[in-house]
Amino acid sequence: MTTSLSHRVYVATWGRIFAAMYDRFLGKAEAGKLGRLRHELIAPLRGTIVDVGAGTGINLLHYDGSVAPIMVEPDHFMATRLATRAHDLGRSVDVVLAPGEALPVDDESVDHVVCTLVLCTAPKPQEVVAEAFRVLRPGGTLEFLEHVRSNTENVAKIQDRFRRPWSALGCGCQANRRTELLFQPAGFTVDALERYQLRGCGPMLSDVIVGTLRKPERAS
Ligand SMILES: C[S@@+](CC[C@H](N)C(=O)[O-])C[C@H]1O[C@@H](n2cnc3c(N)ncnc32)[C@H](O)[C@@H]1O
Repeated sequence: MTTSLSHRVYVATWGRIFAAMYDRFLGKAEAGKLGRLRHELIAPLRGTIVDVGAGTGINLLHYDGSVAPIMVEPDHFMATRLATRAHDLGRSVDVVLAPGEALPVDDESVDHVVCTLVLCTAPKPQEVVAEAFRVLRPGGTLEFLEHVRSNTENVAKIQDRFRRPWSALGCGCQANRRTELLFQPAGFTVDALERYQLRGCGPMLSDVIVGTLRKPERAS
């Protein structure tokens, strides 16, 4: 993939600062509802797990000690922090530098794919969901926790209006995506999908969806 010089400069400057500030930026939300939702989603998972767009590795605070997830992350600054966190936590994980649109993982080899706060940022979220479907074994699940376009019209209008400056600040984050519309066209069945509002996170991060999608078993 070719990227423009201005994008490379942006990543090398603001991208580095964003990765350094990321945990602090989310700190209050992680100590509250966002952290609780993560924990409920992630702590029960066992088996082979691929965490897509793993960022600084906040999810490592929630995985059971018995699992060794493959943490896929395309951003060098995020991946470095992720590797440091894994080391500090004494976690044995593979950190793989790759985008979610091209997972370096075999077909049907994974029990669970995890996407938390990543389908808002990946340039081609429908391809990330398709990749998750490809790598999951039949019966495997995509576990998601994503912020999405609000159902409250006034909040959605703010998300639409400030989409571009927010994206520039948030390294590509699109606050007004209707991520929930991507799942069934990709072939998943929806085991669970809940919508919550995050109080105190401002309008751009106000609505989150959390749940489980399943790759159907093959008909026998
Ligand atoms: C808001 S952060 C979320 C990080 C982490 N998943 C979490 O829950 O805290 C978004 C992450 O998506 C990553 N990302 C950006 N483009 C991506 C892509 N095409 N595929 C996978 N991840 C991507 C970013 O580098 C960043 O680490």
